[in-house]
Amino acid sequence: MEGNVWGTEYGTGTFEAMWEMTLRSVKYANAPTDRYVEDGETVESDEFSMSIGSHSTVVQGDMRNIDAEGEYDAVITDPPYYDNIIYSEVADYFYVWQKILLEDEYEEFQYDKTPRAESIVTNPYLDKTEADFEHEIGEALSVIRRALKDDGVLAFTYHHSDSESWGELLTSLCQNDFEITATYPISSDLNKFIGGDAVSFDIVIVARPTDDREPTSWRTLRRNIVRTARETRETLEENRDLASGDIGVIEMGKCFQEYSKHHGKVHRAGEIMEAKEVVDQIYGIIQDADLGETDVYLDLLEQRSATTDDLNKLLRRADATQDRMEEMELLDTDATGLELRDWRDEDRQAHAKEAVETPDTTATTLDRAHLLRDVYEQGGSRREYLDDWDHDELQELCEDLARVTGDETYLRMLGADVTLEELGAD
Ligand SMILES: C[S@@+](CC[C@H](N)C(=O)[O-])C[C@H]1O[C@@H](n2cnc3c(N)ncnc32)[C@H](O)[C@@H]1O
Repeated sequence: MEGNVWGTEYGTGTFEAMWEMTLRSVKYANAPTDRYVEDGETVESDEFSMSIGSHSTVVQGDMRNIDAEGEYDAVITDPPYYDNIIYSEVADYFYVWQKILLEDEYEEFQYDKTPRAESIVTNPYLDKTEADFEHEIGEALSVIRRALKDDGVLAFTYHHSDSESWGELLTSLCQNDFEITATYPISSDLNKFIGGDAVSFDIVIVARPTDDREPTSWRTLRRNIVRTARETRETLEENRDLASGDIGVIEMGKCFQEYSKHHGKVHRAGEIMEAKEVVDQIYGIIQDADLGETDVYLDLLEQRSATTDDLNKLLRRADATQDRMEEMELLDTDATGLELRDWRDEDRQAHAKEAVETPDTTATTLDRAHLLRDVYEQGGSRREYLDDWDHDELQELCEDLARVTGDETYLRMLGADVTLEELGAD
């Protein structure tokens, strides 16, 4: 119990209230239950067959010294976070008194103070920088991965923060062969109290070992991330009264989940994207992202034999309209259903050519790709076009076209050094 010696106005309350809380937790540990929501109601389960702590050992020490290999079913932890609190300094306040009573019984109490250097935290007094913290959390994750069974699970809390720290965490998890499989927001009043932060949620991140990530193209991942973010926001806005910042934290967690399925295998214009780059993009996507006509078209192509139902579903979460897609000659709908057009279609080709060649009209990258494909098939010169266009943007799109259609020519016509397999095409 860490009461505030200066009174109860600030801190976690009176000694009596904390004593009651401790009693409640001991009672709970002796007869634990679980709670879950069913049909909108909170339901409490039957008592567990075993009490908490009946088969447990408490060990004190630097967790990086754990040498278990493939032994643990689960690691559930609440790790330190950058310079949020220097726990060892806070703990010394209590430690020096406990030492007097306990040093003859527990060898952990032989030292004058609690361990400083082993504490994973940014600490200017010890010249421990943010980079040191990130490195040490990485070491901790690697120990956890080694200790876990292959079908084990890691669950831990993480504070909402800037894109850089999220990027570091995501990179570290992915580099240690973890995939994020779920994220849950938790209300953290303490966080507000400590940081005076407007955001009142932390996230519980659930990650599992993986050695199998699927390759993909950035445009496909981007479409999935935008959709995931929108679905998450819609569900949250419908069901709960949350501040926009809080929704953002939850959206971000879901988007990271999407990315971690593909870490190290996301192709963008011939390069592999780094986690930090994706995190920056996710930040942008959460604030403002478009799913335009080209995105919907690519989604439909990916479904191979898409129907008008599929089109309507996609349009519901997009910024595109069916009219505009028809104007662009990307599709047609009639009584027989949905017809998707491609570069071979005369009307589509005429539209692309006109958009590219008429000054003051804005040709899309898809117009350029379709026109170029026609020129390539006819053995014409592509140089005059390519010199004027943004090559990366075009390659990004062609990588995705190749991936969703399984047609490698979209890559060949650009001389792109990437294969269908590397892009995760079926
Ligand atoms: C966010 S706090 C956990 C607080 C805890 N959940 C509670 O309610 O009291 C992070 C903890 O990690 C501990 N820690 C820091 N470096 C460590 C290391 N190398 N090995 C084990 N624990 C460490 C800190 O001392 C601190 O107690």
